[in-house]
Amino acid sequence: MGQVDMQGWNDPLNVRRPSQIISTTQEVNRDTTPLMPQVMSQAMPPDPAPDSAQDKIRQQFDYGPYPRIPLDTSPKGDYNDLFRHSLVTAAYLRHRRVVDTHDKVILDAGCGSGYKALVLALANPGAKIVGIDLSEKSVELARQRLQFHGVENAEFYPLKLEQVGELGLEFDYINCDEVLYLLPDPAAGLRAMKSVLKPDGILRTNLHSLYQRFLFYRAQTLFQFLGLLDTPPGDLEETVVIETMNALKNDVRLKAETWMGRNLEQITPDKMKEYLGANFLLIGDTGYTIPQLFALLEQVDLEFVSMVEWRHWDVTELFQDPDNLPAFWGMSLATASIQERLHVFELLHPVNRLLDFWCAHPGPAGVPVDDWSDAEWQTAVVHLHPQLRTADLKDDLIRCIQTAKPFEISRFVTLPTLAPVLLEASVAACLLPLWDGPQPIQALAERYRQVRPVDPVTLEPVLAADALVAVREMLNRLDAFLYVLLESA
Ligand SMILES: C[S@@+](CC[C@H](N)C(=O)[O-])C[C@H]1O[C@@H](n2cnc3c(N)ncnc32)[C@H](O)[C@@H]1O
Repeated sequence: MGQVDMQGWNDPLNVRRPSQIISTTQEVNRDTTPLMPQVMSQAMPPDPAPDSAQDKIRQQFDYGPYPRIPLDTSPKGDYNDLFRHSLVTAAYLRHRRVVDTHDKVILDAGCGSGYKALVLALANPGAKIVGIDLSEKSVELARQRLQFHGVENAEFYPLKLEQVGELGLEFDYINCDEVLYLLPDPAAGLRAMKSVLKPDGILRTNLHSLYQRFLFYRAQTLFQFLGLLDTPPGDLEETVVIETMNALKNDVRLKAETWMGRNLEQITPDKMKEYLGANFLLIGDTGYTIPQLFALLEQVDLEFVSMVEWRHWDVTELFQDPDNLPAFWGMSLATASIQERLHVFELLHPVNRLLDFWCAHPGPAGVPVDDWSDAEWQTAVVHLHPQLRTADLKDDLIRCIQTAKPFEISRFVTLPTLAPVLLEASVAACLLPLWDGPQPIQALAERYRQVRPVDPVTLEPVLAADALVAVREMLNRLDAFLYVLLESA
């Protein structure tokens, strides 16, 4: 969202937030000891009852439905967003199966003004989309948005996600984006969504990172202390924040860290409202850590599947030479659990605003290709991720083959990468049939042999077995990015 992080949401209750660094074994609890007891003991009102807290949240989003994206904006060219919202992506990570999205039922829990519901509809052709939200205004906007874009198989209801069972539906996929950290009791929200998730369904949700947003939580604490969040914030409160920031010296830490250098003077009034609402005046916003996230999942008996931006949580990538770590780190990371690796990452480098993840009912997961036997490879069927099956990327590939230039398969979907992924044109050429549909690995290997009949160094003929090894290596590499999806017959 441009240079300013417009997403993210704040609240008056977050005077309690800094206190929420707890160990994995503790329950997530809003009432742990605060880091700023002197502030707490002086002036903080008691927590409002959950219902009145939710009333404030509803009023806040009736006043400013989120996101503030014009109705006619289409996510069609946003390949990363489509990739992220595709049930194919999540189901492959969990089950190592390529699902057909037709007739799947998808819930957008806390759908806001419906932009993500629209992304879900476009990313999952043939699926039915059901959106619910606390705020009636948001629901109305979401309905209008999907109608505007001609999406017919979508329904929206004003409903608390804690009451989602009242719909009498079960879902293949639940998207609960930018909502969980607003709930007075996130475990209750997760339990409600789990109760309507099909046995092999997948839930994507996220929490705000306490470490990444620490500065905003300090700002929220200030504005809470000043009484700006006693009622749902509106024009008056927004003006007070702007006047405060403009009046402060530029090197005052809060201003320097949350206001300066963000091009705020250049954004539209609408975007400014969103920035204030998302970061300074957001009711209900709570920051969490990785141990808290896993404690929550344990509490409700859901199983972690993957971070949504898993490549951006790779702790070894934080080292100058990932292949040559200091001995202590090499040994520790080799045996660390996924939770431990993620926690070390957030402590070393808290750059991710969201702890954004997929989870599912406990149960066996699919076998990743790294663990496949030779026999499984022999019968593999190869799919291109649907978000790569575009005419633009196919044209790119053909151009690269014709000009013998490297093919940048990551050109459109960059989310799973840290750097461009390039394939030598003559190797990439064997992927071309994947734009027509899934192919047996043997067919791709045969095509490889036709494109490269002889070894360019020895001029010996390339054997079928060698071609299979070369194609297998390429597919193994691409599977890590989910650019290709592999099923064993
Ligand atoms: C930050 S917005 C996110 C909207 C949308 N999911 C997105 O990411 O674009 C949070 C939304 O969650 C809704 N919400 C908050 N608490 C809720 C609850 N208990 N049940 C249903 N919706 C809720 C709010 O009304 C608001 O529309």
